[in-house]
Amino acid sequence: MRRYWQPIALSEELPQGGAPLRVNVLGEELVLFRDDNGQPGLLGLHCSHRGTDLSYGRIENGGLRCIYHGWLYDVCGRVIEQPGEPGGGANRDQIRHRAHPCRESGGVILTYMGPGEPPLLPDYEFLSVPEEQRAVTKILYNCNYLQGNEGNIDPVHLSFLHQFLADAPMPLRRVVPGTDTTDNTLLGKDIAPAIEVELTDFGLRICSLRASAEDKTYLRVTNFVMPNLAAFGGSTVGEGYSVHWHVPIDDTSHWKYVFMFSREKALPLELVNKSRAELGADFRLTRSGVNRYQQDRESMKTKTFTGMGYNFQAHDAFATESQGAIQDRTSEHLVSSDKAIIAARKLLLNAINDVKHGRDPQHVVRDPAANRFSHLQVFSEIIDASIDWKQHTRERIATIERVRNR
Ligand code: FES
Ligand SMILES: [Fe+2]
Repeated sequence: MRRYWQPIALSEELPQGGAPLRVNVLGEELVLFRDDNGQPGLLGLHCSHRGTDLSYGRIENGGLRCIYHGWLYDVCGRVIEQPGEPGGGANRDQIRHRAHPCRESGGVILTYMGPGEPPLLPDYEFLSVPEEQRAVTKILYNCNYLQGNEGNIDPVHLSFLHQFLADAPMPLRRVVPGTDTTDNTLLGKDIAPAIEVELTDFGLRICSLRASAEDKTYLRVTNFVMPNLAAFGGSTVGEGYSVHWHVPIDDTSHWKYVFMFSREKALPLELVNKSRAELGADFRLTRSGVNRYQQDRESMKTKTFTGMGYNFQAHDAFATESQGAIQDRTSEHLVSSDKAIIAARKLLLNAINDVKHGRDPQHVVRDPAANRFSHLQVFSEIIDASIDWKQHTRERIATIERVRNR
């Protein structure tokens, strides 16, 4: 995890002149602040002097000042003032407070917490589209990040967990472009898709195929991106896609950063609002284990498969949090439809092994020429059952790449 850039906050949480933010990420207690030049800085939470919490500090004079004895830190962790010492602190240059480099892109602040020179920030389309064409938020999940992300690369659950029943309001059901059928209907029609997984430079491309009519196939393409992201259809599929980026707070909780973008046009406000459905100002879902996700058994008869409303995020929170804080994999029984999860776990184990042997793990990008991910694409559509869908997928991705690079 530390070999990759990771989002640590939404830009909106850290307005210019705003309060520093206490941030817990990858098991570290940190403080994120924006200095008076607008530069974000991420420092160890406890002052290098005698440990006071820097998130209560003052933003001034080019840094963050501890309010116990006034030590002032810049974004690199240098102590630039020790005002209580005679002569301003003769030895302050010898102290280097814990600091991690930050970047701001796509409405989030990201950091690199690993050793050595940070790699390139991958040039993902969802980070670089104009602001009005994307939406981003985050959601607290009370479980390990991995089971959260495994839910994204599990095509079968769409035919169960997220299914709306006959009485669900129509606007919640998305019509698949080029058809008069909703994806909900197609996903419910063939509940046992064929799944194929292809290795890519960034991770995995996952294709699922469902029979939609006698001579038609419903093809969906999603992606696992090393080490803790997934790109999938969502509400903008066709002109963009959605991304879930699962960033560990510690072993038993994580922030799920939710991105959605269109490469063509500004996102309608209604979509932006939808991405924050049932989400409090503290980025916690109103449905949680404490209130049994407000499951309503009456609505299970006619409205939704789960009885937990229409918000996918709440369904996913239920499914992954209820696996346990860290799912016990020694007692699971993987089946053929867990193919993508098995493949992703292998990539993660390979990556762990690479790090152990001093190598960069997969998808650490250092070569600017390799920092292009226009082949990271998502789509879902109906195709003729007789065509070579692998060839079709390659051509589709090439077409989207051409549009993107226009
Ligand atoms: S504890 Fe922070 S300046 Fe003394
Ligand atoms: Fe889901």
